[in-house]
Amino acid sequence: MTTAFLNGDYLPLDEARISPMDRGFLFGDGIYEVIPVHDGNLIGFGLHVDRMSEGLNAVEIKLNWTVQQWREVCDKLIDRNGGGNLAIYLQVSRGADTKRHHAFPEGITPTVFGFASKTEASQISDRTTVKPLRVSSAEDLRWRRCNIKSTALLGNIIHFQKGQAEGNDETLLFNAAGELTEGSASNVFVIKDGVAATPPLDHQVLPGITRLMLLDMLRKDGSVPVGERVVTLQEALVADEIWFTSSTKEVGPVVEVDGKPVGNGKPGPVWEVAHRLFTARKFDY
Ligand code: PDD
Repeated sequence: MTTAFLNGDYLPLDEARISPMDRGFLFGDGIYEVIPVHDGNLIGFGLHVDRMSEGLNAVEIKLNWTVQQWREVCDKLIDRNGGGNLAIYLQVSRGADTKRHHAFPEGITPTVFGFASKTEASQISDRTTVKPLRVSSAEDLRWRRCNIKSTALLGNIIHFQKGQAEGNDETLLFNAAGELTEGSASNVFVIKDGVAATPPLDHQVLPGITRLMLLDMLRKDGSVPVGERVVTLQEALVADEIWFTSSTKEVGPVVEVDGKPVGNGKPGPVWEVAHRLFTARKFDY
């Protein structure tokens, strides 16, 4: 049985209850994080907590938790869910009101919820053993504050569902100018002639922690040049490799977009370098 955290208590997930007047439920008025745990160790914990604080500040949800408080919740969720490989989900909503009114209410207490789910052990794989990703493409129809990790994910899930309905794993999004933004639940990297590029951070892109870690690792390592710049869909369609990054996927090689092969249709050699680097360094963050 999964153990959850809700407003200070640890309890079985199926006993956790919130009010239907919670603004997270009524409006998607909340901020969340997904933090990976491998072999019982958190990856990028401080970076995830910082992003959570920035999101809470951006939408004026006042929760003055210390990093230590988040750490304690994560450590207890790891411990009470048997350690190993987990994804820790944390969510803070603005809280439950007595009426449904759009304005931020005064004096309500944020709802803090967390749980952990088991994930596959991440392994050192190579080009021949990794599970490749196939993606659809779609124009990005989400709001203009995608840098906030809001629980209001209807735009993302509609895009994600398009990929699933087409028999694919994910959806690659591009804006009205034909420039890549990100995946519906991932950031994107495009590789041509050994050089990697990822779209710059702005209101169209979630500042992914995996993206941040991978950029840092590649820059420090130096073997794969990498830049943050505008990347067009046209470039992606003639790229040698495409990668999708996220806390649950790490660095995933994309081998098809809309049924057409990326490069030679197989995970590439630059992906292998990035994957090995990520696997070796991920616990440093
Ligand atoms: N999604 N972009 C979007 C829209 C995302 O939802 C995610 C992550 C990312 C990658 O961010 P990070 O590297 O910090 O996981 C980029 C999480 C995993 C989710 O919603 O389940």
